[in-house]
Amino acid sequence: MSQQPSVLITQDKIKQAVARLASEIRRDYQGKQPLLIGILKGSFVFMADLIRELDLPVEVDFIKLSSYGAGTETSGKMKIAQGLNTKIKDRDVLVVEDIVDTGLTVSFLMDYLKRKRPASLRLCVLADKPPRHRVPVTIDYLGFNVPNKFIVGYGLDWNEKFRNLQDICYLD
Ligand code: IMP
Ligand code: MG
Repeated sequence: MSQQPSVLITQDKIKQAVARLASEIRRDYQGKQPLLIGILKGSFVFMADLIRELDLPVEVDFIKLSSYGAGTETSGKMKIAQGLNTKIKDRDVLVVEDIVDTGLTVSFLMDYLKRKRPASLRLCVLADKPPRHRVPVTIDYLGFNVPNKFIVGYGLDWNEKFRNLQDICYLD
């Protein structure tokens, strides 16, 4: 894999998508105080931009997952590496994720959170690779469908690098 990222989605297009997602979320959560839960680390840039477009009394928490077993692709066996600091029972929870690839990560997390009986539970994703899904995933708010390439930038990494790129890029 070359380490020279090529631009896939410019920062202007990202900004437009974040504004669109925020208006959809604002419309659906009128009168509510949603708890946004970001999946670490990849979602932190997206989360930071999204909440500043939300004219709602939002709260924010983060959760970190890890898949056990080696390899570059998700093994599917997940565990919570760093848990929530907020009780989610009876809360309106919106999970914020950077990218859905196989879907195993969000599928595991949504099942885990559902068991804690939130009042509602939805999913907001910046980028999705639908042909890669190995389990069914329902995305309530989606930024972009992206091609089956390795994506970096705007929070997403390759070996912890490139999270700071302003555009969404791909590596060949
Ligand atoms: P999953 O296969 O849907 O479970 O994706 C697992 C995780 O792998 C995501 O939360 C991302 O952090 C990461 N990931 C998947 N595809 C990419 C990519 O193209 N670039 C960077 N990270 C990715
Ligand atoms: Mg991730």
